[in-house]
Amino acid sequence: MTIRYQKKLIFLFFIMSILVTGCSIGKSKVIESGKTLSMYIATDIHYLADSIHDNGKAYQNFSLLGDGRMVQYVDDIVNAFGYDIKINKPDILILSGDLTTNGEKASHLKLAEKLEEIEKSTGTRIYVIPGNHDIDNPWARGFQGTERYKTPSVNASEFEKIYKDFGYDEAISKDKDSLSYLAAPSKDVRLLMLDTCEYQLNPKTGTPVTNGEIRESTLEWIRKCCKEAQEKNIRIVTVMHHNLYDHSPRIHYGFTLDNSEEVEKVFRENNLDLVLSGHVHIQDIKSKEESGKRIYEITTASLIMYPIQYGVLKYNPVTGFDYSTSQVDVDTWAREKGIEDNTLMDFMSYSKLFLADNTYRKVYTALTKTGLYTEDEKEAMAETMSLLNVNYLKGTTGSIKDAIVCSKGYKLWIKAGETEDLEHLRSYFLSMIPSNDTTNNSLHIN
Ligand SMILES: [Fe+2]
Repeated sequence: MTIRYQKKLIFLFFIMSILVTGCSIGKSKVIESGKTLSMYIATDIHYLADSIHDNGKAYQNFSLLGDGRMVQYVDDIVNAFGYDIKINKPDILILSGDLTTNGEKASHLKLAEKLEEIEKSTGTRIYVIPGNHDIDNPWARGFQGTERYKTPSVNASEFEKIYKDFGYDEAISKDKDSLSYLAAPSKDVRLLMLDTCEYQLNPKTGTPVTNGEIRESTLEWIRKCCKEAQEKNIRIVTVMHHNLYDHSPRIHYGFTLDNSEEVEKVFRENNLDLVLSGHVHIQDIKSKEESGKRIYEITTASLIMYPIQYGVLKYNPVTGFDYSTSQVDVDTWAREKGIEDNTLMDFMSYSKLFLADNTYRKVYTALTKTGLYTEDEKEAMAETMSLLNVNYLKGTTGSIKDAIVCSKGYKLWIKAGETEDLEHLRSYFLSMIPSNDTTNNSLHIN
């Protein structure tokens, strides 16, 4: 071998070693076995890009008509959340669907840009799945002046392409019939990211279909994913937009999977005992035990509603999983950025008032329409409903149950059953009162 040829070989080896090391330094590097993991879970961000609204009348009206979502502050909330991530640097960030308001392509692209910036500056691995609002949404709209106008949505393959760096390119297995995938960020824990949406029905219905299911072929793929993980003694965390269990006696049709019983059976057979979901916009933990096996499901509250909350899931190879909740620190982010806006600098108080007011106004208007109540009575009923709703979303109704039951508003709501017009509101009111003192903001799984 000539010296020249030897030099060439050394050079080639050098280049190859850089390439190989480069690959392992990137996000594809798997976290070693035996290490603790920290995961943030945020859901139902319903992001709306600034580029498709002018802050005009149509947009203002839209932002006030919702269920208490702070659409007008979504950009600030996402930026502040990114700041939380930069400070705390969790290993993983999971976004469990409804990434956008109504699947606008502009919103997806802008959100993906923000996620890329977060991932690059923190090293936090990001994984997303779609929610029912994200794909082929016929309601995708922009806002200009007093008008709403149609804006493009994305189809399933565009979604996968936009979020290729946030799960899809890194997947170790993909389902052929949905946007579900399996990710292996760590040697101990895998993420089963399930696409439970039925966007293929949207063009026919003309709406973002609320219901969800997991098809038989996807269940078969799940079985295969679990078999391999079990053989290697790897834990799997399941993530989906729709719910496995009913999280409200009233709000469950369209929220709980249409074939939840069948899905639960597959989950149980395959030891999928921890499910993280969203969609219902309330903080809630449910679990069911059968033959000594318990499945836990945690629905995390929407990030853009009070209390601007996300889940923190910690995995310890010795002690197991610990879930808790945390709130986006918008106030500190605003101060650090030098943003002199009184609302942003006291954002938690604002968001609580925004939701409380939203509920109060709707209830007060409905009560006024019946013509049955005095001013004092309307105020008492609206106030009690508002207090209950604020705590319901936060998952803390247990702590105010006694105060609610003793209130004047409660007694009036109980009697309101005699009025047909109020049946809908009354049953929502009663559905929020917890039957036991279970906590919805923390959980330990051994
Ligand atoms: Fe949803």
